[in-house]
Amino acid sequence: MPGYVEGLLERIRELKRQRRAVILAHNYQLPEVQDVADFVGDSLELARKAMNVDADVIVFAGVSFMAEMVAALNPDKVVLHPDPTAGCPLADFATPQLVRRYKEKHPQAPVVLYVNSLTAAKALADYVVTSSSAARLISRIGAEEVLFGPDSNLADHVQRSTGVRVIPLPGHGHCPVHQYLIDEYHLMKALDEHPNAKVLVHPEAPREVRERADFIGSTSQMLRAVGEMDAEEFILGTEEGLAYRARRLYPNKRVYPLNPRAICIDMKKITPLKILRSLETLKPRVTLDPEVSRRVREVIERSLQLLG
Ligand code: 13P
Ligand code: SF4
Repeated sequence: MPGYVEGLLERIRELKRQRRAVILAHNYQLPEVQDVADFVGDSLELARKAMNVDADVIVFAGVSFMAEMVAALNPDKVVLHPDPTAGCPLADFATPQLVRRYKEKHPQAPVVLYVNSLTAAKALADYVVTSSSAARLISRIGAEEVLFGPDSNLADHVQRSTGVRVIPLPGHGHCPVHQYLIDEYHLMKALDEHPNAKVLVHPEAPREVRERADFIGSTSQMLRAVGEMDAEEFILGTEEGLAYRARRLYPNKRVYPLNPRAICIDMKKITPLKILRSLETLKPRVTLDPEVSRRVREVIERSLQLLG
C-alpha cells in the first residue's frame, strides 16, 4: 500500500498521461514536487523550456510571475497554477506606474526588467533578464546606462560586473528571503561549521555576502558549479530548496544551505495535493490580457534573441 504522498504522486502521474500534461517546476520547489515534475530548472531554463512544450496542459509549480510568463509564451495551451496566491514580494516592487515614471525621467535609457517582476510591468520593458542572463544581456545592449529593476542587489551585481551604469528601479527592491536570511551572520555561522566549503551565492543576496562568495550565479548555475568545482563541500547561499536538488544531482558531494531557515513560503505553497486538484479540475487557469501577453512575448523573444 503506498503512503499518502506516494499515492498522490501516483494519481498525478496517471492524470498527467490522461490530460497530456507536463509539470514544470522551479528549483526551490518541495522535494516531492521536484520528483513528480517533468522538468525542474531556473527561470531562464523554464522560459526556454516553456517555448517548446509538447503538451495540451502545463502545470506550473512556482510563483505567479513565472506561471504568467509560461502562459504568455503558450497562448494556445491551458496553463495551470495550482496556488495563485503564490506570488513574489520582490516582483511587487516594480509596478507599471513606477516603470512609466522612470521611463519619462530617463527617456534615453533602455528598460531592463528582472524576470521577477509583474507581468504588466514586463509589457513596458525593452528587455527581460534572469539572474543568469542579466550581465550578458546588458553588456550586449551596448548602452552607457540602463534602467534596471526591481532587485537592487542584482542591479549592484550587474553594474559591478559589466561597468554599465545601472539606474535601479526603484532602488530599494529586494527579495526578503535573500536580503534578510542570506546575510553575513548566517554565512559566517555556516563557515564556522564547514570551514572548507566553497561558498556559492545567488545575486539577490546582499553585497557583503556576494563579496565573500567563490561563485555568484542563478540557481541552476550554482548547481552546475557544484558539479564542476574541484571541492567536496559547498554552502549554497540561496533558498534552502536548492540543496535538495544539488544532493540528488551530486550524491558524492556534501551540500549545506547557508541558512536552513531561508524558506520562500510562496514557493512552498505548491503541494502535490494542489497539483492533483488542478489536474482534476483544470483550474486555477492562468489567463492574461491578450495585448499584455503579446507584448510580454515580444520582449522575451527579443531578449532571448540578443542572448543568442
Ligand atoms: P533563478 O532564476 O536563479 O532560479 O531565481 C529565481 C528566484 O526567484 C530567485 O529567488
Ligand atoms: Fe521571490 Fe525571493 Fe521567493 Fe525568489 S525567493 S520567488 S525572489 S520571494
